[in-house]
Amino acid sequence: MNEPLMQLRDIDMVFQKKGKFLEQERSFHVLKQINLTIQEGEILALVGESGCGKTTLGKIITGLLRPTKGEVIFEGKSVYHALGIGDKEYKAGVQFIQQDSYAALNPVKTIYQSLAVAIKVAEKGISRLEMEKKMVDLLGEVGLLPAEMFLNKYPHQMSGGQRQRVLMARALALHPKLIVADEPVSMIDVSLRISILNLMMKLNKDKKISFVYITHDLSTARYIASEGRIAVMYLGEIMELSPLEPLLEKPLHPYTQALLSAVPIPDPEIASKQGEIPIKGMNLLDLEHRNRGCPFFQRCPYAKAECENTPIPYKFYEGREVKCLLDEPPIFKKYY
Ligand SMILES: Nc1ncnc2c1ncn2[C@@H]1O[C@H](COP(=O)(O)OP(=O)(O)OP(=O)(O)O)[C@@H](O)[C@H]1O
Ligand SMILES: [Mg+2]
Repeated sequence: MNEPLMQLRDIDMVFQKKGKFLEQERSFHVLKQINLTIQEGEILALVGESGCGKTTLGKIITGLLRPTKGEVIFEGKSVYHALGIGDKEYKAGVQFIQQDSYAALNPVKTIYQSLAVAIKVAEKGISRLEMEKKMVDLLGEVGLLPAEMFLNKYPHQMSGGQRQRVLMARALALHPKLIVADEPVSMIDVSLRISILNLMMKLNKDKKISFVYITHDLSTARYIASEGRIAVMYLGEIMELSPLEPLLEKPLHPYTQALLSAVPIPDPEIASKQGEIPIKGMNLLDLEHRNRGCPFFQRCPYAKAECENTPIPYKFYEGREVKCLLDEPPIFKKYY
């Protein structure tokens, strides 16, 4: 197999939460023992409920946050040198697209001005004429046509979907190899979501750009990662990592099973046949009081005493990874 585009090794992220007094300062273990490999040209969907650390992980992948512990490797090179400065190639090669497209764009700059900044970074000394041509190409690539109609607009004069496309164009200006898109469609009308997902899939196919698609919504994850992989996160840990099809066919982690069984099924006949997995209560562990063992311990219907405080190793099954002490998950059930 080729060298992976990117690797995260044993990543931990601990935030300090400041109180009024020094003794009130608490540490907040947001990510724990994250190991993740991203291959060139692949689409990986990162799924998990709100607050589980998806954005934090996305920012670590893109170098916007430096992890407390662990190694970030891009194209075989560790990106943090002794001085703590991220690699230049890495910075351009890995782009982050955030959820709130309005906040991501400078409100007093036109689209032309916003794109010009990115293009000048990638193409030093580019002439005005070449830059304009480049902008038209970029906007065409993300489906904003005719491009001339958009260049002089301000962000507030565009729809959420159009702004997301501008963010995509701005990222493309830097010739990225990987784009981390953090909930890019959650603030967009449902009717337009699919077109943004299709755009990412097209860029993936045509330009071989890898995508990490962050979402709390399993249905969009299934759509975009139909040929890719899914990482299921729970309270700062990756519980299961698998190509999509086998994960749907046979979810290995009890949390993945719970997640799949919570997706509403439109056909009442099929829905009535599908049992729900009996989650034990809604008590969530929180990140400040995590146990040493499985974070799903309190809700897991199959939890054993040792799950609470034994650090859980990953098990590997045919290209899949699962972080669970169970020998075999008790339910093998097709949910769709
Ligand atoms: N800079 C920070 N300092 C302290 N705590 C932080 C910081 N950034 C995030 N957190 C905390 O880390 C946890 C994970 O946050 P994160 O934004 O990564 O979650 P998320 O999975 O993206 O959630 P959502 O689905 O709501 O976007 C949260 O409890 C959050 O409050
Ligand atoms: Mg988030």
